[in-house]
Amino acid sequence: MSSVIESIKYLDWNGSIDILNRANKLKLFTLIIGPKGTGKTSLVRKFAEDVKKNIFSVNFSLRTRESHLIGTKTIENGDIKFIEGILIKSMREGGILYLDELNAAEPDMLLRLDEALDERRQLILKEAEGQTIYAHNEWFVIATINPLSHVGTKELPPQLLSRFPIRISMDYPPEDIELEIIKHHADVNNENIVLVQRAIKLAKGLREAAAVEELYYGPSLRETIAFSKLINIGTDPKLSAEIVFANVYNQWGEVEFRKVMDMITSIFG
Ligand SMILES: Nc1ncnc2c1ncn2[C@@H]1O[C@H](COP(=O)(O)OP(=O)(O)OP(=O)(O)O)[C@@H](O)[C@H]1O
Ligand SMILES: [Mg+2]
Repeated sequence: MSSVIESIKYLDWNGSIDILNRANKLKLFTLIIGPKGTGKTSLVRKFAEDVKKNIFSVNFSLRTRESHLIGTKTIENGDIKFIEGILIKSMREGGILYLDELNAAEPDMLLRLDEALDERRQLILKEAEGQTIYAHNEWFVIATINPLSHVGTKELPPQLLSRFPIRISMDYPPEDIELEIIKHHADVNNENIVLVQRAIKLAKGLREAAAVEELYYGPSLRETIAFSKLINIGTDPKLSAEIVFANVYNQWGEVEFRKVMDMITSIFG
């Protein structure tokens, strides 16, 4: 069996790769701020691929525990052994530590990170007899946070924020660029291009409505990509739009759903 290693499909439309390269060169840790599905994770994966570094990923919205980040003690053949966590592994190897949704982290986790991320780039392991871990000089850290308007998001403590002096702001791209991004993931041809453009326009309208709290939810690039894939396998465009863009609003009731269905009917007939 052969396997194909696929390169990350990422269109660098706002110059973020260049900023990451400069930050990495100077080892200035970087914070990426942006709403869901704006390409934050894809950007980091593409950058890691470019610089040929491993990514050590931690997602704080998944209730990550200290044992995962720092490490955990186990007993092996009667001996106590310390299994190192993601943070320690990344420091030793000099890879990229990717702290996803850092503003969802619990205070005890933020404290440990605070220590590792300061100028000394070292961590004293109270879990392993006070052993000190020194970071490899290629060690680089990138964190993401969602804008504070997002439900359940907390503010990052200022001293931790200051440990990420490079900030990249991500947002939904202009319509023509969203089309180019979709082309990286789905076949857009002469026959379906108009439908994809209409879906982008619809998504934009829904995002704007969500931004002013007229709707509870604004679709991301994931939805416009999904729509394009659905019509490519012959799904009726209006049905595709209903499945991808409208049905999600049913959880907030009929009125919300109807509002979106009316928009879909006026666009897709
Ligand atoms: N610039 C881009 N080039 C290519 N694909 C992109 C780009 N931006 C977003 N995408 C695609 O959009 C989808 C969402 O992107 P991604 O997962 O990177 O977003 P995210 O900002 O990390 O989202 P979340 O906040 O939910 O974690 C993916 O399918 C990704 O490939
Ligand atoms: Mg992500």
